[in-house]
Amino acid sequence: MPANKDGDGGWKSFLWNSERREFLGRTGGSWFKILVFYIIFYGCLAGIFIGTIQALLLTLSNYKPTYQDRVAPPGLSHTPLSEKSEFVFNMHEIETYMKYTKGLKDFLEMYDDDAQLDQMKYEDCGDTPGGYRNRGDLESEVGIRKACRFKRSWLMECSGVQDRTFGFKDGKPCMIIKLNRLVNFRPRPPTSNESIPEDAQAKVQPNVIPIHCTNKRPEDAGKIHEIKYFGIGAGFPLQYYPYYGKLLQPQYLQPLVAIQLANVTMNTELRIECKVYGENIGYSEKDRYQGRFDIKISISNS
Ligand SMILES: *[C@@H]1O[C@H](CO)[C@@H](O)[C@H](O)[C@H]1NC(C)=O
Ligand SMILES: *[C@@H]1O[C@H](CO)[C@@H](O)[C@H](O)[C@H]1NC(C)=O
Repeated sequence: MPANKDGDGGWKSFLWNSERREFLGRTGGSWFKILVFYIIFYGCLAGIFIGTIQALLLTLSNYKPTYQDRVAPPGLSHTPLSEKSEFVFNMHEIETYMKYTKGLKDFLEMYDDDAQLDQMKYEDCGDTPGGYRNRGDLESEVGIRKACRFKRSWLMECSGVQDRTFGFKDGKPCMIIKLNRLVNFRPRPPTSNESIPEDAQAKVQPNVIPIHCTNKRPEDAGKIHEIKYFGIGAGFPLQYYPYYGKLLQPQYLQPLVAIQLANVTMNTELRIECKVYGENIGYSEKDRYQGRFDIKISISNS
């Protein structure tokens, strides 16, 4: 098969043509030029890529989120947590509420007085509501900022100090509520009490974000006789804001509010909703924890 032989020879000479000193149809000089071209070409691509990333990083701050205006208003969270926000217990059977009181006890450990002794990190901001605490620009050279102390004892019956069952053994359970942290956010109290339910109107004060809990369903009206509120001004006082973020205020403590269901109807399921009120605090149909939350609770006493 002569054609085959010919083809074979052609392929071999394509691979290495000793006559013209060409490898794969190109001379050494030609290969060298191609190599140089691609090194420069990919070098430039990498340069452009690194350059744009660097330029973008320069516009970002270590301390402040760039697009904070797109962040939803803060969520409310509560301790203890429970699956489906359902709390069911018998006040005479400790094993039915132990998981709740343990959650409260563990959570409050970081609010122990001896965890807040460091004078370099904490300062007293008073036990009555005050204005925002400005601790300098986020970008300034001040570095680590102090945080306000928050004393467990301000939660009174719900502090877990005198009553280690947080009221559960008397059928008056406590729950602790905090507003989630948002860097550089200044919650603004309501300027009028018009849009606020009547029961909560008296709580409107200049330096507090008020919180109010009530029955969620109309059929539970009249079953919740008394809810007590503990904390500074029974709400979230402004001296704990703004929060400077994890880097600048690593030891920050959120102000807490404790609510105690001091007199609610027993042996029935109640749905209770808690809501905070403020000019820049909104609610969302989709997010059950934005500015509010609700729980189901049923306390049995037999
Ligand atoms: C509105 O709030 C103020 C406190 O800021 C309170 O004194 C007043 O009684 C409230 N108004 C109504 C109609 O409840
Ligand atoms: C709980 O509220 C009801 C209705 O207001 C009242 O009759 C009852 O005395 C209250 N119980 C306690 C222990 O305060």
